[in-house]
Amino acid sequence: MKRPVDGPFQFRGKRPDEYPLPDLNPHMKLHYELVPPVVVAEEAPNFRGRWGDAFPEPDLPVHLEIGPGNGFYLAGMADRHPEFNWVGVEIRYKRVVLVAKKIIAAGVSNARVARYDAWQLDDLFEPGELSGLHINFPDPWKREINAKHRLVNAELVSWAASVLRPGGVVRIKSDHRPNVARFVDAATNHPFSMVNFIDDIGRNGAPWPDDLVTNYQSKFIARGEPIFAAMLTRDDD
Ligand SMILES: C[S@@+](CC[C@H](N)C(=O)[O-])C[C@H]1O[C@@H](n2cnc3c(N)ncnc32)[C@H](O)[C@@H]1O
Repeated sequence: MKRPVDGPFQFRGKRPDEYPLPDLNPHMKLHYELVPPVVVAEEAPNFRGRWGDAFPEPDLPVHLEIGPGNGFYLAGMADRHPEFNWVGVEIRYKRVVLVAKKIIAAGVSNARVARYDAWQLDDLFEPGELSGLHINFPDPWKREINAKHRLVNAELVSWAASVLRPGGVVRIKSDHRPNVARFVDAATNHPFSMVNFIDDIGRNGAPWPDDLVTNYQSKFIARGEPIFAAMLTRDDD
């Protein structure tokens, strides 16, 4: 996964004293004060291959949520599934802070939120390191002219096939059907099995029993819009 920019790209965070206007974004400052559960961008790549070290119970299988937003899903799933360690990767300072506050409020010790760019996930996880991948309402970039900004693309699916261990799960939800269909279509080129593809969670129910309604999902529900979801599992090698 590489961000669609010309030339090499290295995602890195800055310490507050490196910013010309350090008081401009209060969330930037605050996210440093919430370590842990926050993992700052400068530290996150150090956990590649050893995310267990970020948690009190280092041997639990690791699940990743890309773009956790306000953190309701990440904190909620960590509470529901203490048998896993949960990592969220979120790029926006304000949302990192929201996620951290949700984790703290939930009182769970098995969730962390890394401030990082999901286009650079190779920096953070090594092959076979994850047991679960959760993608909820990724930015859709509906217009074809913006296609290069779509995070859910064939490269992400290829990355998912390598980073998930056999038996690992993928859960993806979106209000924009092509985002889910793109993952499912690309997965046919990799060792994935489709568990199910649901066209409208509202009418047909969630494709997994322990689903949680995310912040964005609740907005689409309020507007009466359909929500699409798919679940896949990583086959044995
Ligand atoms: C449409 S929101 C969905 C939020 C949440 N998953 C939900 O369902 O309520 C997309 C989220 O992805 C995050 N995001 C977008 N691009 C990202 C990137 N390159 N790396 C990490 N997070 C990103 C956004 O900041 C935002 O929190």
